[in-house]
Amino acid sequence: MNRFQSLSPDADQQRSRALLSHIEQAIADAGGWIAFDRYMELALYAPGLGYYAADPGVLGAWGGSSDFVTAPECTPLFAATLARQVADVARSENLDTIVECGAGSGRLACDLLAALDAQGWLPRQYAILEVSAAMRARQQDAVAGLPEGLRARITWWDALPDRFDAVVIGNEVLDAMPVKLAVRTAQGWLERGVARADDAQQPLRWADRATAIESRPSMRALPAGAVTELHLACDAFIATLGERLGRGLLLFIDYGFPAHEYDHPQRACGTLRCHRAHRAHDEPLWQPGTSDITAHVNFSGVAQAAAQVGLDLLGYTSQARFLLNCGLLETLGAAVAAAQDGISGAPMNRAGLAQTAAVQRLLSEAEMGELFKVIALARGLNTPLMGFTHGDRRAALRAEIAPQVAR
Ligand SMILES: C[S@@+](CC[C@H](N)C(=O)[O-])C[C@H]1O[C@@H](n2cnc3c(N)ncnc32)[C@H](O)[C@@H]1O
Repeated sequence: MNRFQSLSPDADQQRSRALLSHIEQAIADAGGWIAFDRYMELALYAPGLGYYAADPGVLGAWGGSSDFVTAPECTPLFAATLARQVADVARSENLDTIVECGAGSGRLACDLLAALDAQGWLPRQYAILEVSAAMRARQQDAVAGLPEGLRARITWWDALPDRFDAVVIGNEVLDAMPVKLAVRTAQGWLERGVARADDAQQPLRWADRATAIESRPSMRALPAGAVTELHLACDAFIATLGERLGRGLLLFIDYGFPAHEYDHPQRACGTLRCHRAHRAHDEPLWQPGTSDITAHVNFSGVAQAAAQVGLDLLGYTSQARFLLNCGLLETLGAAVAAAQDGISGAPMNRAGLAQTAAVQRLLSEAEMGELFKVIALARGLNTPLMGFTHGDRRAALRAEIAPQVAR
């Protein structure tokens, strides 16, 4: 058992009660109401208490006692395929730094560096930008197992430098950023926040207020009663990266849609979801800190925030298309052959079958292949990106960027 598997259900409940008191205090300090993005920030990241911020870490062993599984945790072939795109652009553009945002368990960092090494290119430094001290500790444990030649390249940035040149990557980090909630009423949009309830079983309740929230144009399609999310933190994060990036590429992979799909009338309940023990639920106020809380990404908003700071939109496609363009099937073929000790025509063994099933999960339209997208934003690059050679859907995003900032 490692130290991340040692959290007992009792400890979980105790931490949740302490987090609840902390949130109740924040509500009292704010005069009886906090916006949902403030609640989500506390529930996920309050130091020592939040879902991602508890020590020794509430995520458990990924794939075992975990709450959800991300692509890099599914199979190292995800990192190996992403490595092809990263190495190709870094080599031709002379970029010697990789920055990973929100590195979770550290799995992607370890597998990506190993894959880059196997492909004959390594960055001078691999910098991790991680908001949670507990997750950073977990990443440090993970990279401790790497050979010295790889481990020595990894560093943690406490803050983004004022200027840097790099290939920046982030898998499932944008969906973990706090969102505001907006509710459509007959009178217009209200902001949904959180207040205290006089109920020992459920001490927090929803409370809607008229605030100065700015709706996006596509929200007009949503009917009265609809609830949706506003991604101010995500947009600000992209804008800051874009302002500080001298030359380089941002590649973000996450579940989400362009705004016109996000605000489709059939999605009138919004996309806010919680995950606990591989089950999704819709009660973010229930036992704060014990479930992950996430919202789908509005990729039009990401593209717009990037355009506003002068980044070029170099590609937007589904995860399946991106990985196929980057040679996932060839990578799988090599892995299966290696698992069969190179005996061609031999029936696939258990390891080969497991790799094939994991790849199916990454590619299948019913699983991660279509819901997950990849967006590429850049400054000063000339190299065409292999991940977008077929099936690039940039036009769908460009159509939704305000004309004064479209590039
Ligand atoms: C859903 S996990 C994904 C982890 C990993 N990338 C993966 O794919 O397995 C989200 C990660 O992003 C981190 N995170 C959230 N907001 C962040 C921010 N603003 N800057 C850096 N890291 C952040 C969380 O602490 C967590 O490590």
